[in-house]
Amino acid sequence: MSKLHITTTVNDDPAEFLTDPGVTLLDALRDNLGLTGAKEGCGSGDCGACSVMVDGLLVCACLMLAAEAEGRRIETIEGMAQGGTLHPLQQKFLEHAALQCGFCTPGLLVAAKALLAENPDPTESEVRYWLAGNLCRCTGYDKVVRAVVDAAAEMRQVRRAS
Ligand code: FES
Ligand code: FES
Repeated sequence: MSKLHITTTVNDDPAEFLTDPGVTLLDALRDNLGLTGAKEGCGSGDCGACSVMVDGLLVCACLMLAAEAEGRRIETIEGMAQGGTLHPLQQKFLEHAALQCGFCTPGLLVAAKALLAENPDPTESEVRYWLAGNLCRCTGYDKVVRAVVDAAAEMRQVRRAS
């Protein structure tokens, strides 16, 4: 079977790759583009470890075909830090020790960033509700939620000052 040639944008950079029709976006990101931040926890849309943004919407990369990335704008965890500067969410995850093995962390960060883009001042309940699709097997969720609320406060403060 002939390969599909996909042209897309990943983290603001043009990207292209060859893929088979049944390959997921997650596998293409990891295997074709070497972006291994998004993880495969379940492969069925249940854990959120593969979370990425597609045209500004949060999606499970394990549920999307790589072929559907044609012409789309993909954002992954690899694009979150700017140069050597961590995104406030990444910094707060570190400060709050909101990770242990880190397997779920890229997905949580991408999902949390999507939340704050939509709601810059979420309540604790809203954070918990939004992140309910991101499963963590080791840290528990309290530190994650505290980190997101803290990052949101800092981001609001920076916006007010600018
Ligand atoms: S690997 Fe995609 S939701 Fe679990
Ligand atoms: S830190 Fe290990 S699964 Fe979340």
